[in-house]
Amino acid sequence: MGGAPAATAAVVVLWLAFAGGEVAAAAGDRPSEVSIGALFTYDSVIGRAAQLAIELAVDEVNADRTVLDGTKLNLISQDTNCSGFIGTIEALQLMEKNVVAVIGPQSSGIGHVISHVVNELHVPLLSFAATDPTLSASEYPYFVRSTISDYFQMHAVASIVDYYQWKEVTAIFVDDDYGRGGVSALSDALALNRARISYKAAIPPVSNADMINDVLYRANMMESRVFVVHVNPDAGMRIFSIANKLRMMGSGYVWIVTDWLAAVLDSSRPGDLKTMSYMQGLIVLRQHCPESGTKKEFISKWNNIARNRSIASGLNSYGLYAYDSVWIVARAIDQLIDSGQKINFSADPRLHDSTNSTLRLSTLRLFDSGEQLLQQVLLTNFTGLTGQIQFDSDRNLVHPAYDILNIGDSEPHLIGYWSNYSGLSVATPESLYEKPPNRSTSAQQLSKVLWPGDTSTKPKGWVFPNNGQPLRVGVPNKPSFKELVSRDTGPDNVTGYCIEIFNAAIKLLPYPVPCHFIVIGDGSKNPDYDDIISMVAANNTVSALGRFVLIIWLFVVLIINSSYTASLTSILTVQQLATGITGLDSLLASALPIGYQAGKFTRNYLIEELNVPASRLVPLNTINEYADALNRGPKDGGVAAIVDEMPYVEIFLSYHCNFQIVGQEFTKEGWGFAFQRDSPLAADMSTAILQLSENGQLQRIHDEWLSRSSCSSDDGEMGATRLGLGSFWGLFLVCALICVFALVLFFARVCWQYYNYSGSEEANDPREDTASTAAAAVAVADEIQRRKPKRLGSFKELIQFVDKKEAEVRKSMKRRPSDKDNQAGSSDIQSMP
Ligand SMILES: *[C@@H]1O[C@H](CO)[C@@H](O)[C@H](O)[C@H]1NC(C)=O
Ligand SMILES: *[C@@H]1O[C@H](CO)[C@@H](O)[C@H](O)[C@H]1NC(C)=O
Ligand SMILES: *[C@@H]1O[C@H](CO)[C@@H](O)[C@H](O)[C@H]1NC(C)=O
Ligand SMILES: *[C@@H]1O[C@H](CO)[C@@H](O)[C@H](O)[C@H]1NC(C)=O
Ligand SMILES: *[C@@H]1O[C@H](CO)[C@@H](O)[C@H](O)[C@H]1NC(C)=O
Ligand SMILES: *[C@@H]1O[C@H](CO)[C@@H](O)[C@H](O)[C@H]1NC(C)=O
Ligand SMILES: *[C@@H]1O[C@H](CO)[C@@H](O)[C@H](O)[C@H]1NC(C)=O
Ligand SMILES: *[C@@H]1O[C@H](CO)[C@@H](O)[C@H](O)[C@H]1NC(C)=O
Ligand SMILES: *[C@@H]1O[C@H](CO)[C@@H](O)[C@H](O)[C@H]1NC(C)=O
Ligand SMILES: *[C@@H]1O[C@H](CO)[C@@H](O)[C@H](O)[C@H]1NC(C)=O
Repeated sequence: MGGAPAATAAVVVLWLAFAGGEVAAAAGDRPSEVSIGALFTYDSVIGRAAQLAIELAVDEVNADRTVLDGTKLNLISQDTNCSGFIGTIEALQLMEKNVVAVIGPQSSGIGHVISHVVNELHVPLLSFAATDPTLSASEYPYFVRSTISDYFQMHAVASIVDYYQWKEVTAIFVDDDYGRGGVSALSDALALNRARISYKAAIPPVSNADMINDVLYRANMMESRVFVVHVNPDAGMRIFSIANKLRMMGSGYVWIVTDWLAAVLDSSRPGDLKTMSYMQGLIVLRQHCPESGTKKEFISKWNNIARNRSIASGLNSYGLYAYDSVWIVARAIDQLIDSGQKINFSADPRLHDSTNSTLRLSTLRLFDSGEQLLQQVLLTNFTGLTGQIQFDSDRNLVHPAYDILNIGDSEPHLIGYWSNYSGLSVATPESLYEKPPNRSTSAQQLSKVLWPGDTSTKPKGWVFPNNGQPLRVGVPNKPSFKELVSRDTGPDNVTGYCIEIFNAAIKLLPYPVPCHFIVIGDGSKNPDYDDIISMVAANNTVSALGRFVLIIWLFVVLIINSSYTASLTSILTVQQLATGITGLDSLLASALPIGYQAGKFTRNYLIEELNVPASRLVPLNTINEYADALNRGPKDGGVAAIVDEMPYVEIFLSYHCNFQIVGQEFTKEGWGFAFQRDSPLAADMSTAILQLSENGQLQRIHDEWLSRSSCSSDDGEMGATRLGLGSFWGLFLVCALICVFALVLFFARVCWQYYNYSGSEEANDPREDTASTAAAAVAVADEIQRRKPKRLGSFKELIQFVDKKEAEVRKSMKRRPSDKDNQAGSSDIQSMP
């Protein structure tokens, strides 16, 4: 498009327009000609498609007897040439030509400037390509967007991000009104699903390959692997070739690209994509224009004429919106004229030529019926190439919808749709409008996607920044409790139960996370946990190059269930039951000093939650200090009890058995690793730890480090605090005395019986012999012989006597009193020995 011929043509048209106006005035009825303007960049992907589409639309309007019959629609185009300055000047020149409406501008930036002008001149602006959502109807009443606002496009992107459960994205955008407006809308839309833009990579509007390379390089340093690319069609393609050189188009990456890429692809020749094989796997949005016969017809017509005119690039959605925009204006003017309004321009009193200025501002004239025309535009209701053309109360086209494409080997495949009505679906939006809206999660669907790297596995969406430094893990260095964590001379610099769990969990992550342990504290006293936590939080901010995120680990937040039942608990270690402390309540009620582990949150917990005066709290650092304080007791400058977390108490008790836990565990908290807020590692580590718990590894590590059972039952230290033997010595003494007494009594009785018995047997022998048969006499004599061979019997004989049935002894003893009565001397004989 040469500048000079166009200008000449414009002058001719201008003259015709005035002439036409006069003719119309003379006719008193309909003007024979009405001028509309068009404002776009001719030499652009969108411009090339739009230019021919607008021309064809104007031709069709002029050929159509039902619209503007008898009035010729005259088109005046101006090239904004991709420049804010040229574009603004061109737009003002267009206004000089008394256009009743303008199709355009193409660029959102020019849209912001020109909107101020048309507001004053009352010329409706129908933009088919300015998608910046901040071009709002309330600020710019004469700005009407005849395409879909990026507000909806960004909601579509956010729906896709949510559908694949990614939480963080990197936005790559051109740093102008269009880019910033879109990214701001994206940020809002993501927030609705608790996702966010973790890094904004702004590409300067005028940039060379080095600048893009730099921006992409930094973006690649970040954790997020989901890139949303929102740039201009004409410079955008370079991003992918540069990203490809940076190896950012391979597996693990996700690229979601806004409709600009669809415009480029639609406008490129079919074979072009083959040469860009690295673009495989991208997800691309495209305004949804329902299939229809008129659309197909128009596309083939456009293509034929383009071929005839050897226009290199093809039609795209923006071309269709441009075509529809012409029809919107034509119908509105038709309605305006039908309603009897005149097409007339008048001078604006505020615009007058200052004496020496060559800017002839007075040529800008006010369109008298502008407001009525705007109203007619907003009342539009017809079906165009892009679907139902109707504006809602916010002046957005009704039924905003997008096609979602996945770039395959050589061409894009449709994988679904997004509509404001029903969200993501595989059914066309038109088919859904007949049903009630269904935005439930289960109703959201997309077809299978082939991701970059030719994989159908959904990428995680983030990685540990592989170009960056390793993960920095802070480890508290304590003087005691070294089973949990301690400094070490090994390759890790640290060792312990927690370190082993951490390493085991890290190994379970599906991506490598290089770690670097940083020991915090000098090991002579406990580091303050609040300080460590604030270090984690403070280093949340991304450092100079935005490269490395630091994460500190310690025992506070997350869940390590199995070994401690997800219970971090504080427990009392009580020295003496005699203090009457039976649990937390009685401890709090007393005024006795309470020990806690220095540096830990226990102090704040006791003061703030349990209202313990700070003066009662005694900080303790090591296991020995624990034991010492408890042994000394409250009277001797020690403590009555120590409140600490279960794992520490367990370790303490494994060293000192003469203390014990009293009362119930009284808080439920996690015990684990602290990560920065929003660190994607936190969720993955939780999952990994659960896995460790399920496969028993957690228990194994626990047993390995924490199952010191040094307190066996024969431990000599027993007694000081437990109810041991000593507690009951009095009772035992009484029992022992009674037992001894009973035993002595028993023996005395047995002995008495024994002698008594043996004496009576001796005396009875002859009488029994005579009274019995001979055989019986022999047997009994044998028996007596066996039982009592001598009078002074051995211990064995005594036992044998005792062994003899009590009943038998009694029987024989019972017999004796009668014997005694009969034989008075027998007792004397008995007592003789
Ligand atoms: C459009 O801009 C380019 C450079 O930005 C310039 O070379 C060209 O001459 C301009 N064309 C017109 C018609 O202003
Ligand atoms: C193509 O161009 C030739 C000459 O420029 C013209 O005769 C012919 O009608 C054109 N065809 C179409 C489809 O416009
Ligand atoms: C056009 O507007 C001017 C100034 O407001 C007025 O003088 C003139 O009569 C109008 N012409 C028509 C045809 O309404
Ligand atoms: C216009 O320009 C002339 C000379 O160039 C100067 O004398 C005069 O003051 C200027 N007038 C105004 C209003 O600036
Ligand atoms: C728009 O047109 C359709 C038919 O084309 C009609 O059903 C609908 O009611 C119209 N809407 C308004 C607001 O006029
Ligand atoms: C888009 O959807 C929201 C919520 O579903 C609704 O409030 C809004 O009116 C819709 N907008 C359009 C243009 O359909
Ligand atoms: C929404 O879609 C889901 C899945 O297709 C279906 O189970 C549910 O009943 C639908 N809800 C409504 C209100 O149509
Ligand atoms: C151990 O400490 C040294 C020096 O502080 C450090 O260079 C090294 O990376 C550390 N090793 C690990 C595994 O953290
Ligand atoms: C956290 O970052 C600050 C500066 O950004 C640095 O001075 C400090 O050493 C870092 N903390 C750790 C634990 O690396
Ligand atoms: C947590 O620990 C308790 C007891 O040790 C066990 O019953 C429970 O199953 C564990 N839960 C998980 C998720 O490991």
